[in-house]
Amino acid sequence: MCGIVGYIGSQDATQIILRGLQRLEYRGYDSAGIAIYSQGKIEVRRDAGKISHLFELVNAAPLYGNLGIGHTRWATHGEPNARNAHPHLSSSSRIVIVHNGIVENYRSLRDELESEGVQFQSETDTEVIVQLIERYLSTSGSLISAVRKTLNEIQGAHGLVVFSQDEPDKLIAARIGNAGGVVIGLGDGENFVASDLPAILEHTRRVVFLDPQQLAVITRDTLQLQTIQGALVDWSEHQISWDPVTAEKGEYRHFMQKEIHEQVRSTTDTIAGRVDFSTAKVHLAELNLTREFAQSIRKIFIIACGTAYHVGLVGKTLIERIARIPVEVDIASEFRYRDPIIEPNTVTIAISQSGETADTLAAMAEARKKGSTLWSIVNAIGSQVMRQADGFISMQCGPEIGVASTKAYTAPLIDLYLLAVLLADLRDSISSETRFQLVSDLRRIPNLVGTCLDREAEVIEVAKLFGNVSNCLYLGRGINMPTAYEGALKLKEISYIHAEAYPAGEMKHGPIALIDKNLPIIAIAPKDPWYEKMLSQIEQAKARGAKIITVASEGDEQAKYLSDRVLWVPPTPWLLSPVTTIIPLQLLAYHIACQRGLDVDQPRNLAKSVTVE
Ligand code: AGP
Repeated sequence: MCGIVGYIGSQDATQIILRGLQRLEYRGYDSAGIAIYSQGKIEVRRDAGKISHLFELVNAAPLYGNLGIGHTRWATHGEPNARNAHPHLSSSSRIVIVHNGIVENYRSLRDELESEGVQFQSETDTEVIVQLIERYLSTSGSLISAVRKTLNEIQGAHGLVVFSQDEPDKLIAARIGNAGGVVIGLGDGENFVASDLPAILEHTRRVVFLDPQQLAVITRDTLQLQTIQGALVDWSEHQISWDPVTAEKGEYRHFMQKEIHEQVRSTTDTIAGRVDFSTAKVHLAELNLTREFAQSIRKIFIIACGTAYHVGLVGKTLIERIARIPVEVDIASEFRYRDPIIEPNTVTIAISQSGETADTLAAMAEARKKGSTLWSIVNAIGSQVMRQADGFISMQCGPEIGVASTKAYTAPLIDLYLLAVLLADLRDSISSETRFQLVSDLRRIPNLVGTCLDREAEVIEVAKLFGNVSNCLYLGRGINMPTAYEGALKLKEISYIHAEAYPAGEMKHGPIALIDKNLPIIAIAPKDPWYEKMLSQIEQAKARGAKIITVASEGDEQAKYLSDRVLWVPPTPWLLSPVTTIIPLQLLAYHIACQRGLDVDQPRNLAKSVTVE
């Protein structure tokens, strides 16, 4: 899920689109392409590699036109090559599309279209969308109704732009589910569309943001918004400030809110390029991991601080359950001084968003001194934590500005899941059936994250209960125990409310004494293997008068009955459940801090990058 840029007007569309794509390069990608309407037909240039290479292709075979779309791609279905790069044409070459997202039901749709005789030109899930539009165009008469019918059939979260050579007066853009943004830039006799503001800010500051389940019909002079059912929607224009920081926040009040909402996209980008859904194979290229090395590993240490440490705690369960390798997780500042026993054939994984955390770097040095192989999971490419390691996994989040880490929590959870599957595959410790199931479960994650974000209004209502609260207790178990730790950390650092997290089974050994009607308890109880145990602990807390707010799986009547309020999450495969259970807790902390009028993005005493001991 990467960059989209589109243009309709009277200027040279090719240059506007290529320059827009360049401004999105920071998001990372493995291929790029452009489609221009030129002299009655659609011309496409695309290939694997960088935008500079796309410029070369366009210089060698120029494109002239005033209508077009461009894209930078991270591969999800099919390897990065010219055939799989966007834009994608329909069979007749009359319709073209660029798309961000994963079509969850692409296999069954592709089988259906192939049985009707459609010949696919790529291995991508995106091509299914443009072929479906072509199929419906033959019966529905107009591009817009064919697009609407198609969007009602595809599952997942998506941002896309299409046009047809038979209706060259318009671009159609859509945002389905809570996918990363689609923004329309308004010009004078011209209009722009993009996945991200930086792509169009050079041309206009007047923008319209699409909401989920909305379509935009964009001509040179007009903009019409409608739902995917076809009902017209009023739109309002936003004026983007010239101040670069405010401009970067776009439609959001704070970076933290923006970054929470970016998680549909960051989880998609984390999966993209690493997973081949058709073979259920995982590729983590920068680890340089061989079968022989994977089979030699006897033990893994994970070292990190703060939020990254909580990621490591989930990683322990993932690696031990999936790859059957013993894992120890250490807070980096403790590891460096505890004289850890590091035997031969040990790998130490450092996790760090900034890649410059002093304690993590020192712990890495200690592991290195004792002979461990070093891997890292980092967001900041080129940082020391990346450079000191023998191999690394990049988080694919894009820059995280808010001091409270959000998207840099969920992305490495998926990285560790991918690593666990890869290790298990190379060590032959899972059947191919299990591997297919584990990989296939990933496909649904971005949309499940989007479903959690759709419930933000309900979280705001719960946040209102925290007006006078000064203490609260988070309870979890098993793979969602770290969710409790992370939820409590989020609340502490931005709202300054004292929040403690405890394994629910430990309550009776002490913390139960804290419980009274003034202590809200936030219980994390999705339908995972610890669910029944969590329910009985919630009952015990309730019996002592506690106010219970439960993070529970949609439709769970028992959790609803036992709780004062429920923060619903969609049912999620349990090994991936921490990716969804944390979302309402990030939103809760955010809205409580906003209610208190606090500086959410720069809380007191905290720094984004902790480069001192
Ligand atoms: C999380 O919200 C905090 N900002 C903090 O705990 C952070 O995760 C920790 O300092 C580690 O930072 P790093 O990921 O950059 O190493």
